[in-house]
Amino acid sequence: MPADKKKNKSNPQWIRRHVTDPYVKAANQHGYRSRAAYKLLEIDAKDQLFKPGAIVIDLGAVPGSWAQVVRERLAGNDGLLKGRVIALDILPMEPLPDVQFIQGDFREDEVAAQLATALGGVKADVILSDMAPNLSGIGLADAVRCAHLCELAIEFAREHLKPSGVLLVKAFQGSGYSQLVELLKRTFVTVTVRKPPASRAESAETYLLARSLKVRD
Ligand SMILES: C[S@@+](CC[C@H](N)C(=O)[O-])C[C@H]1O[C@@H](n2cnc3c(N)ncnc32)[C@H](O)[C@@H]1O
Repeated sequence: MPADKKKNKSNPQWIRRHVTDPYVKAANQHGYRSRAAYKLLEIDAKDQLFKPGAIVIDLGAVPGSWAQVVRERLAGNDGLLKGRVIALDILPMEPLPDVQFIQGDFREDEVAAQLATALGGVKADVILSDMAPNLSGIGLADAVRCAHLCELAIEFAREHLKPSGVLLVKAFQGSGYSQLVELLKRTFVTVTVRKPPASRAESAETYLLARSLKVRD
């Protein structure tokens, strides 16, 4: 990922784009913690990811807008949560009602084990990963770190996703991307690339949507 693609919040150009961004305005109006909410809303509008009663894991959850969307999508007519939302991030997160949060580095085995324990012996219906490392601006190093987080999410899904489950992972086009798509195709029955309108066109970010685990030999 080139250095100029790095999010630099002290850059006047970034600030100008941020304050005029319709998704930022909409997020502020609707009380979402970030514009990223709209990426998930747009993918869900197309792909219907969530069913009432679902168990959903949200990896790389901070500041929490995806967890807010999931919480809303799993609400019954009475507004009560039907299902479970378990969110994880390396950073602390402001609590969200009905969202169970685990703070830890997903690259560490103990943290993945903690998440498995939180599932309490059941498998998830949906695993979301919007994880992205702090970018160094050094293309190859960033690509490798991004791809590694995706691979870990896929590995976790192999063990902890229902056979008919859904995995949605953020991946960056570039080095290692085609290998990730191949890994997903070996692991899941269907794999689709999604680039929701809320994901900036100039960003290498895409989302890979995988459904139904293949039976392992
Ligand atoms: C783009 S943000 C996620 C935004 C979130 N989906 C939302 O809607 O609010 C990416 C997140 O991935 C987290 N992350 C990066 N590396 C991680 C790791 N190794 N373990 C857990 N979380 C990680 C970052 O701390 C960051 O909060």
